[in-house]
Amino acid sequence: MSRVAYVNGRYQPLAAAKVSIDDRAFTFGDGVYEVCEVRGGALIEETRHLQRLARSLAALRIAWPIGEAALKVVMREVVRRNRVRDGLVYVQVSRGAARRDHGFPEGGVKPGLVVSARALDPEVLAARAGAGVAVITLPDERWAHPHIKTLQLLPNVLAKQAAREAGAFEAWFVDRAGYVTEGASTNAWIVTPEGRLVTRQADNSILHGVTRAAHFDVANRLGLRFEERPFAVEEALGAMEAFLSSATTIAIPVVRIDGKQLQDGRPGPTVAALRRAFHDIAEKSRTTV
Ligand code: PDD
Repeated sequence: MSRVAYVNGRYQPLAAAKVSIDDRAFTFGDGVYEVCEVRGGALIEETRHLQRLARSLAALRIAWPIGEAALKVVMREVVRRNRVRDGLVYVQVSRGAARRDHGFPEGGVKPGLVVSARALDPEVLAARAGAGVAVITLPDERWAHPHIKTLQLLPNVLAKQAAREAGAFEAWFVDRAGYVTEGASTNAWIVTPEGRLVTRQADNSILHGVTRAAHFDVANRLGLRFEERPFAVEEALGAMEAFLSSATTIAIPVVRIDGKQLQDGRPGPTVAALRRAFHDIAEKSRTTV
């Protein structure tokens, strides 16, 4: 079955799908995106993803390309046409196509919209969660607004590649004061010796992860305490557990940081409990797959 994407108003086979070379996503990274998990044919935490999309669009002063209700229909249709039961749906909005000029184009440029979906193998994810992963740390040299989910991901791309080349799954960015901000495409967490979950406060230095927010709901349900505050790499190395979260990973244990093993090097019980409970508690929105 060939994959289908929604591109500026049309459902097209991936091989035929095209956007203009003048699209500002292409020339300037001038756009925003969302990645929403699809599980058992349901969209997970769709409301929070669309709320964040609204915030990202407002931050860049890009209009909604189509209404929110219409976008929900398109997301479902793309999931259905690609028969994705477990995977992700990707939504990208750009400022649109206009002759290259750094300032915003004047008058009436229609924002670009691309929606695609793809399957992910739940067994691969489960195996990763079972074994735990390694992370490396890198100076956070991104711009001052990582809370906006923009398409400008070059520092994240380079960090992820550095992680891969070091045999790690993720790179954790570290600010000038030595505190972890977040991962290249995930939020960062530790569990203190007192059993408290700690993740950085949702300020401008991190993406306000939807999965991160949903984990607070899960923690409340499980009676786990949590704190939103910075933690240093040293504190993470002495933590009981560490993990990362995102729509595509949910909660994956971190067992090594910069080559140093955490505790006994095995995934701990807190992240396992969060992972088990997550989909019982997270919002599930129906599709027809
Ligand atoms: N990444 N931090 C960054 C820099 C991210 O790119 C992401 C998501 C997260 C976690 O956010 P959420 O829980 O809403 O997925 C944190 C997506 C999955 C991606 O770029 O593919």
